[in-house]
Amino acid sequence: MMNSLVEKLRKNRDLSDEEFREIIDSGRYDDDLRTAADEVRRENYGDVVFLRGLIEFTNYCKNDCLYCGLRASNRTADRYRLSREEILDCCEEGYALGYRTFVLQGGEDPYYNDDRICEIVAAIRKRFPDCAITLSIGEKARESYQRYFDAGANRYLLRHETADDAHYARLHPDTMSAQNRKRCLWDLKAIGYQVGAGFMVGSPYQTTDTLIADLRFLQQLQPDMIGIGPFLRHHATPFRDQPNGSAELTLRLLSILRLMFPYVLLPATTALGTILPDGRERGLQAGANVVMPNLSPVAARKKYEIYENKICTGEESAQCRGCLEMRVKAAGYRIVTDRGDVRRA
Ligand code: 5AD
Ligand code: FES
Repeated sequence: MMNSLVEKLRKNRDLSDEEFREIIDSGRYDDDLRTAADEVRRENYGDVVFLRGLIEFTNYCKNDCLYCGLRASNRTADRYRLSREEILDCCEEGYALGYRTFVLQGGEDPYYNDDRICEIVAAIRKRFPDCAITLSIGEKARESYQRYFDAGANRYLLRHETADDAHYARLHPDTMSAQNRKRCLWDLKAIGYQVGAGFMVGSPYQTTDTLIADLRFLQQLQPDMIGIGPFLRHHATPFRDQPNGSAELTLRLLSILRLMFPYVLLPATTALGTILPDGRERGLQAGANVVMPNLSPVAARKKYEIYENKICTGEESAQCRGCLEMRVKAAGYRIVTDRGDVRRA
């Protein structure tokens, strides 16, 4: 018999704060959570896993987030930018490998002003009319988001990182705020993007209360995608001595999110695969239904070092695709190559 708290979460897609606290803090629901999450995922998506090709096109960043290896203060980072042609080459290679979604991710790099972003987006849109274009380039003005959308971008990933103002302030410099982060997400939704939010698991100063605040914020936002992965320390950041986040809690939260948001796109993240050798496979079995293999040129991969020991930095795109295909199959699922638009009830 399945635990009644898990059943309640599945049925209501919600719990009280006290119930969430119990299920987040205790490991004893994990087996039932995973079983229920996999059932809900199969009801909605079968055994399908969507692919998103990740192109890390710049590691310059004007921000100084305390957790991130690409922060501006990290003078040891070896910075690079991809040209429009190099980005298009990545898409070309990805298209041939079956990718129909391209995620352009980068630091907040002023070199790529709105004109340049729009040029890149329009070029991809023209060459690959059947593909979804996802941007993940940080906080911008609403007008900028509108311009990218009009140029052909469909989706935007911007993790909220933490919904708690005070916690947010401890992870970021004074120039940033949870309020502006959320403003961005609401603007993106209003413009018509499919939106991805999310947070790190086990970021410094995170508590069960801040995690519950994250779940509540996601209930309000109703994003199309939710990206979560363990916090992993980077030696050239102020958080160099902080403990890594836990794979177990990440898996537990993936299952909770699947039960709360049956239709949501939930990636098994690279960070989860970095902290646990079979982390992405376990993530899929816990309710995730997206993987985002790397399409960046191999020379760039090691340099996009948000955290240490990142996987997939030595492999060619084709190898990465093949490797994932095998892993997804071994986990009991099947990669599909369509755009994988979110399905709403
Ligand atoms: N460990 C894990 N995830 C990180 N991110 C940034 N730095 C780290 C880190 N040290 C995540 C953030 C960001 C996403 C691109 O990567 O959540 O939004
Ligand atoms: Fe990239 Fe295995 S998924 S090398």
